[in-house]
Amino acid sequence: MANEALRILDERTNADYSVPVNQGVIRAMDLRQIKTGPEDFGLMTYDPAFMNTASCKSAITFIDGDKGILRYRGYPIDQLAEKCTFLEVAYLILYGELPTEQQLKSWMNEITHHTMLHETTKRFLEGFRYDAHPMGMFISTVAALSTVYPEARDVHDPEKRKLQIHRLIGKVPTIAAYTYRHSLGFPYVYPDNDLSYTENFMNMLWRMAEPKYHPNPALARALDILFILHADHEQNCSANVMRAVGSSQADPYVSVAAAAAALSGPLHGGANEEVLKMLDEIGSKNRVPAYIEQVKAGHGKLMGFGHRIYKNYDPRARIIKWAADQVFAATGKNPKLEIALELERIALEDEYFIHRKLYPNVDFYSGIIYQALGFKPDMFTVLFAIPRTVGWLAQWQEMIEDPEQKIARPRQIYTGYAERNFVAIEKRVEQKLAAAR
Ligand code: CMC
Repeated sequence: MANEALRILDERTNADYSVPVNQGVIRAMDLRQIKTGPEDFGLMTYDPAFMNTASCKSAITFIDGDKGILRYRGYPIDQLAEKCTFLEVAYLILYGELPTEQQLKSWMNEITHHTMLHETTKRFLEGFRYDAHPMGMFISTVAALSTVYPEARDVHDPEKRKLQIHRLIGKVPTIAAYTYRHSLGFPYVYPDNDLSYTENFMNMLWRMAEPKYHPNPALARALDILFILHADHEQNCSANVMRAVGSSQADPYVSVAAAAAALSGPLHGGANEEVLKMLDEIGSKNRVPAYIEQVKAGHGKLMGFGHRIYKNYDPRARIIKWAADQVFAATGKNPKLEIALELERIALEDEYFIHRKLYPNVDFYSGIIYQALGFKPDMFTVLFAIPRTVGWLAQWQEMIEDPEQKIARPRQIYTGYAERNFVAIEKRVEQKLAAAR
């Protein structure tokens, strides 16, 4: 609606202001004119954790958390998961439209030709301890690619940007697979360009002495669907980090590494690993009610439950349940599923979870599938990071091209001391330190 405005009466001064409203949003900078006098800095907003602040305009992903809707570039997630391959969806997320047959062919060809790692990067990976967490190896190795491709620093050159985007999408499965092989002490497997993106990933993970790896098509499809579901999720914690680090014009390798670091936390992508630890701790179906009581009493959280935006069922969780059935048909059921289903059943009937609108999120079932596929829990977040690299890069590209964006630099409300005079060391008395307060 055109010409909407918000009228603000400042009771401190009795001054009246009119602030434009566009798409239900006011610009925080429009509040700066609201002052108590010429010395006043002007009104700011305070919003820890960005609970009610839009930090950008974006045309990539749409979420309606109350209705449980997720769309990439306008297409509902369930349609994309059913009908597309991951690389097709990656193209859509990055370029805004589904590729034609010809575009898809050359896109697949382009990505496939960037799957190899420089031998020095391979040796870099070899330097990690045998028990290094795969997510730590993944983050560091992605950052290390920055040293291999110094031209990536030229972030304002669209062609150079495109090349790094292709390299990153091509190389993240290779890095992920190498972290897996490293933790098992197995030799690294080079990419096989005859295979699809997901099949090649499986080849690099699981090929042993056979001359050609033949992936199970049902498992390859299930993994591809999981990749589609994880590809982007608008302004989540790691996308926000990608944009913030990228806003300083850092290169995309270190920016993706920073975003992956944000993803690794247990409240974000690290939750899938935590879900498995939780199911292990519960141990059996009959211990679920006691565990839920413990959570309600304030001891820990139900990992894989709750979401900042979804206050209805996470649409990805529904599709993941379907993918789980496909995987279990091939691998046999993961015994943890029984505990997870019981946890979900009881939680969804419990007033504590209903009142707080806590539903299973994408991480609740993904771990159970990954485990059935043969992964240890510490690999789960790496499996999330592979497809999410596409989302991070699309968010980064959009940020770079947006003329309204500048270096990200929030304001603060200073709560420390006013000015005080320096005290010589011999006159200092021990004070309670800020970090220990
Ligand atoms: N188990 C029990 N209680 C919970 C949970 C949970 N998983 N999540 C939120 N609550 C409670 C919370 O204690 C609070 O209760 P009260 O009002 O009594 O203080 C209320 O629900 C609102 O929670 P909040 O912490 O204000 O919500 P938030 O939007 O800040 O946090 C979240 C969202 C995802 C971090 C949180 O729900 C959580 O920690 N969930 C478990 C971790 C998890 O599964 N993370 C994956 C998120 S989805 C995929 C991804 O982003 O990677």
